[in-house]
Parts: sequence; structure tokens; C-alpha cells
Amino acid sequence: MIPTDVLVLGSGIAGLTFAIQLAERRSDISIRVCSKANTGETNTRYAQGGIAAVTDFTTDSFEQHIRDTLEAGRGYCDKNMVRAIVEAAPERIAELAQWGVPFDRNSKGKWDTGLEGGHSESRILHCRDRTGLAITQTLLRRAAGYKNIRFCPGLFIVDLLVRDKQCHGIRYVDPDSGKIKNSHAKITFLATGGSGQVFKVTTNPEIATGDGVAMAARAGAQIRNMVFYQFHPTAFAAGKSNPAFLISEAVRGFGAYIINTEGERFLFRYHSRGELATRDIVSNAIFSEYQKNEENRIYLDCRHLDERKFYRHFPEIANQCLKAGFDLFKTPVPIMPAAHYQCGGVTINPQGQTSVQNLYANGECACSGLHGANRLASNSLLEAVVISHGAAVEVASVIDHIPIVTFPENPGKPGRISQRKPMPNEIGKIKTRLQELMYIYHTGKITGDRTKKDITSLWELISGKTDIPGNTDNSTREFYELKNLITVARMLL
Ligand code: FAD
Ligand code: SIN
Repeated sequence: MIPTDVLVLGSGIAGLTFAIQLAERRSDISIRVCSKANTGETNTRYAQGGIAAVTDFTTDSFEQHIRDTLEAGRGYCDKNMVRAIVEAAPERIAELAQWGVPFDRNSKGKWDTGLEGGHSESRILHCRDRTGLAITQTLLRRAAGYKNIRFCPGLFIVDLLVRDKQCHGIRYVDPDSGKIKNSHAKITFLATGGSGQVFKVTTNPEIATGDGVAMAARAGAQIRNMVFYQFHPTAFAAGKSNPAFLISEAVRGFGAYIINTEGERFLFRYHSRGELATRDIVSNAIFSEYQKNEENRIYLDCRHLDERKFYRHFPEIANQCLKAGFDLFKTPVPIMPAAHYQCGGVTINPQGQTSVQNLYANGECACSGLHGANRLASNSLLEAVVISHGAAVEVASVIDHIPIVTFPENPGKPGRISQRKPMPNEIGKIKTRLQELMYIYHTGKITGDRTKKDITSLWELISGKTDIPGNTDNSTREFYELKNLITVARMLL
């Protein structure tokens, strides 16, 4: 690939908003947006509830949004970062709306904001229950209007090209030859999303294998807070568990209950906010209920809600449940906690700069300090748009001073990967085992279900005592993803 001024790794909200903001400022530089799958297949696309921002100052305030974020983050947030992101929100929301994101409005023409767990006010802007899809479509349309943005879908990035703590581009699998090649750039922007696939039960699509945070770690970038992995309490439990269909927290904001097998709204035993406590509290409470009684099943109860209004707000959720045989207004729906959000990641400042020169990061692969130990609902999309704006302003002003440095190709020896032939079914088996053990390990912290044998197996697997088949000349995406998942598992533990 010929050298590019800026390589954007990822086509979710973080990558796309950065590319657009930069193209808006600099029409004279080349920007490539790479994604390992189709451009639109991202975590962003599946976002439901919406994007948090204070937009009505008669009922809400920045101070309240800051307080809610800090409380959810349990003392691990960076207070300055929280303030900066919360205060920048209204401007970024107005910009998204101006770009064409069709945020819902109420009958008075004002934003129709929703409520979610941990928020003391209704402040979630949304596009029904398909906010992520609406944002993705708008951003892709807008990006397509810039001549200097080029998309490279189906391009799997293996590693960052880093020398002397400076990033000079990427190593990727050439889709035509299957060989590993270099692509050089002045600036590399890491926006590769999360790592939900490290767990057996997750809301995250297949692409979420933690590639970005793993490559950044291999490149020596500072990583933080990986120990904090967020489980969402209300994934649909009567269908697939990977990925599991999400039933948005906004449904509880709309008034749905969570009940146990006895029909008890048990969450008030755990927190005074009941169903609207933060995610960590609600998920842990559900795990504790499982522990009390193996037969215990947990349900989301919508039977008392206004059906017509519900369909207006959550058509996708109601229809998906109906398709699976659950009429939300006649019967409670089984739910379960599912791995949802990587709170830690590559350490960044407000401009998205990492500890490696010319390497920027943003979105779920990064850690700005906004989320602390537990992300407040709908703060993720917000963080992505605010940081991308700051990063684009910065990159637009420094890029002319950065030279392109090229390295010779070295396709035979990418990293420390062993030289044997890959066997995809073996890779699949190891991946499944890792996902199972990570799930047991994480949930077992709460339920006490971990056995010594499970823990030993997990440690053997992630510390490399279990043989992982692999071949570098004929490398497969599955193989590298497994390597990355194992790296992420080590960091999470
Ligand atoms: P993503 O959108 O995941 O994009 C990652 C990109 O990186 C993809 O293009 C992928 O192909 C690319 N990539 C990854 N690895 C490689 C590689 N090796 N080579 C090349 N390309 C690669 N947050 C909210 O704030 N509000 C919500 O309502 C909300 N709802 C959610 C609902 C669901 C079901 C899920 C799963 C998450 C939700 N979240 C929500 C979280 C939020 O959607 C994500 O945190 C956010 O979208 C992440 O955006 P991103 O740009 O960092 O990454
Ligand atoms: C949801 O809609 O419940 C997801 C919101 C989020 O992850 O922030």
C-alpha cells in the first residue's frame, strides 16, 4: 500500500468521526479508514440506548452529569477528563444533528431524551432503539463526501510499526496475497473497538477481539484499567449467547422491572435505585441471585407498560423478542448479564495521544479516564465524538512537521508467532475454551463458582503452556485474533 498521511484503524464512531473532523480541516492530506470486516460491521452499529449529553439546562446540569459519571466509575475516573467531555457534549451533539443524525424529538420539537441506569436525569439522545445504526449511516454518508477519505474494508491489521517509541504505520494481511505487508503513515489512529469476544456470553459482535489494545501493548504503549470489564445486565437469555441480543437499559428507564423466579423486584434489596442502579450493581445482584438458587431465572417484566408507546420507542427490541416467541406485554422475558464494554485500554490524553509518538487512539480500545471502574450508560459514544474532535484539531496542526519513515517488508517474521500450520478447528476449540474459562473466572468472582481446575486451566492457556497452532507465512485472521484475545485475557486478569 502506498504511504498515507493518516491511517485510521477502525470504522466505528471513533474512527469515522476522527476521519471526518480531520478531512473537514485538511482537504490536502490523504486519510485511509481500514476495517477488518465490512465498513459498517462494528460495535457502534449495534448501539441502542443512545448518547448521553446535557441538553436541557432547565432540568439538568453539567454538574449532575459529572457527578453521575464519577459515582458510576467508583473513584477511578479522571475528574478533569470527565468535566472536559461532559462540557463538550452539547456542541458535539449539535454537530451530529447538523450532519444528519436523526435524533428523536418530542411533540414540542425538543430532544426526546431517555433515562438509563446511574443517570439522575433523562439525558440520553436516541434514534428509537437503533441509535448506533442511525449514527453509522450518517457518518458513512458524510465521510463519503470527502475526496481525501478512502475506505479499505476487509483489511486485517496485525501489528503497529513502532521503532524508538514512534509509530510509523501498520503491518497488515494483504487480502490478495495473504502475505503480511507494511503500510506507512505519518499518523496512526487506533480505533479498533472492544474485546467482548474474550467471554462466552457477550453483546459484542465477532469483530470485538481486542486487536487494537493487544497490538498497542506489543508496541509498548501504556495501557491502563484493563481489570475493569463491564457486564450489561439485560441481554436476552433465550437466544444466542454470542453475540447475545441486547435489551437496552433504556427499557428500564422507560419503567420495566427486573424480577426473579418468585416474581420479586429483588434489586431494591441491593440498591435504593432498584432497576436504575448502575450496571455493575445490577449485574452483580443478578449473579448473586443465581448463586442463591441454581434454578433462579431472572426476567425483564414489561407487562405493565403502555404497549403503543413502547413500540414507538423500542420497535427493534419488541420485534426481536416477538420473533423469538416472547410477547413482552404478555410474559416476562428471560435476561442475563453479558460482557459488554472494556473500560480500560490504551492510555490517552484529551487529544487522543498515546505514550507512543504519532500513535493516537480513541473509542473502546482506549482509556481516557472518563469511565473509571464502570462506565455510565451511553457515555461511550459521547467520549468517542469528543476525543475524535480534539484529536483531529491536534493532528491537523502537527501533521506537516511529521516525516513518513518507511521500513523494508519482513513478511517471514512477524513478531513471535510460531511457524506451524494453522488448524482453524483447533483455533476455534481453544477460543471456545478461553471464552468459557474467562466467563467462569469473571462471574465466579461473584458467585464463587470457580473451581481450582478451571483456574489452573485458564492460567495454563493464557501463560502459553497450552500449545497454540500457528503459521506466519500462511497466517489466518482467526489465529491472530486468538493471540490477541489471549493477550487481552492476560491484561483483564
Ligand atoms: P467499533 O465501533 O467497535 O469499531 C471497531 C472497528 O475496528 C471496526 O471497523 C473493526 O473492523 C475495526 N478493527 C478491529 N480490529 C481490527 C483489525 N485487527 N484490523 C482492522 N480493523 C480492525 N454505547 C453507548 O454510549 N450507547 C449505547 O447505546 C450503546 N449501546 C451498545 C449496544 C451494544 C449491543 C454494544 C455491543 C455496545 C453498545 N455501546 C453503547 C458501546 C458502544 O457501542 C461502543 O463502545 C462503541 O461503539 C465503540 O466504538 P469504536 O469506534 O471504539 O469501535
Ligand atoms: C443500552 O442501550 O443499554 C446500552 C447503552 C450503553 O452501553 O451505553
